[in-house]
Amino acid sequence: MALTRVQGISTMVLLLSGACYAAVEGPWCYGEEHCGPPTWVSLGHCGEMRQSPIDIITAKAVLNSTLDPVTLSGYDNYKKLRDMKNTGKTVNVILKDGLLLSGSGLPDVYTAKALHFHWGNGAAQPGSEHCVDGKRYSMELHIVHTRNNMSMSEALDDPQGIAVLAFFVQASDSAKGKTAKAWESFSKNLEKIAKKGSDTDIKSTVSLQDLMGRTNLARYYRYSGSLTTPNCNEVVIWTVFADPILVPSKVVAYFPLDLRTTDSSVGPHLVNNFRPLQRLHNRTVEASAILKPRSTASQTSQPVAPILFFLGVSALGVLPI
Ligand SMILES: *[C@@H]1O[C@H](CO)[C@@H](O)[C@H](O)[C@H]1NC(C)=O
Ligand SMILES: *[C@@H]1O[C@H](CO)[C@@H](O)[C@H](O)[C@H]1NC(C)=O
Ligand SMILES: *[C@@H]1O[C@H](CO)[C@@H](O)[C@H](O)[C@H]1NC(C)=O
Ligand SMILES: [Zn+2]
Repeated sequence: MALTRVQGISTMVLLLSGACYAAVEGPWCYGEEHCGPPTWVSLGHCGEMRQSPIDIITAKAVLNSTLDPVTLSGYDNYKKLRDMKNTGKTVNVILKDGLLLSGSGLPDVYTAKALHFHWGNGAAQPGSEHCVDGKRYSMELHIVHTRNNMSMSEALDDPQGIAVLAFFVQASDSAKGKTAKAWESFSKNLEKIAKKGSDTDIKSTVSLQDLMGRTNLARYYRYSGSLTTPNCNEVVIWTVFADPILVPSKVVAYFPLDLRTTDSSVGPHLVNNFRPLQRLHNRTVEASAILKPRSTASQTSQPVAPILFFLGVSALGVLPI
């Protein structure tokens, strides 16, 4: 989650101060020493105790038998994806009204506002934000929701203001069928938004459900954390699904290939836009009712592969990363 508003402020500061660095990038970035993640601790809440992402240690997750499948409404509607934008930090898709999330452990109904992604550099270099037992997946999809349809700025003032659904995406050459087709169709839009700041109106034939594929909505990890981009507000209820969505490797490769971090179509490729793992401190990760710690997973034939998520928020309501 990135706060777009800050970029405007920083531009102004640069004009006033004549500072010579990071002018186009804003005050934070992923890959450069002077603005990369280690420097974020001085921004907003990024140095606090409830940060995201984390490594989910499945053997330490506490089984919570009240955590039922999440309930989604409208996610099968293919007309809900609106504007797709290259923010220079991610690709953000604004969602239309009427996508609702509820379920155990969520204190209210949450409304989806936007989705975005984190990635590495193609199938060979994974870039999910959350990890599971140290494993990093190819990409991570974050669907960002606010509590009771709050505006983003209201949600940032509520310790449970935002719920993010996080889905791991794994590059797989055996990915085929409806889900693979949906990702191919969705990613065709990326070449239209190569430059930072460019956007395109998606003529979508794809629903959120199509992108989620057959993800089991009953198998997830739950913990309380933060936005994974500055200002790292500690307002997020994370739901990280255990089973990755399998997506063709070439689709995973389109993200770093097509997208640039500046407003030049030959600018640097947008790669490795994930925040490093944060400490759990005194928090507990809960496992949904049908997930079992690995040590007692005798009934589970699939490996426990959680997913996590992330979120981005912007004070202007441009949901960020
Ligand atoms: C299980 O989840 C419910 C709903 O979030 C919560 O009230 C309860 O404290 C949790 N129990 C444990 C053991 O974490
Ligand atoms: C949710 O909030 C948005 C933006 O403020 C508004 O346009 C929309 O009508 C709201 N939806 C409902 C169901 O109240
Ligand atoms: C964790 O520590 C924070 C203060 O740093 C405290 O507010 C919170 O209640 C603690 N949570 C648990 C589960 O102990
Ligand atoms: Zn995110």
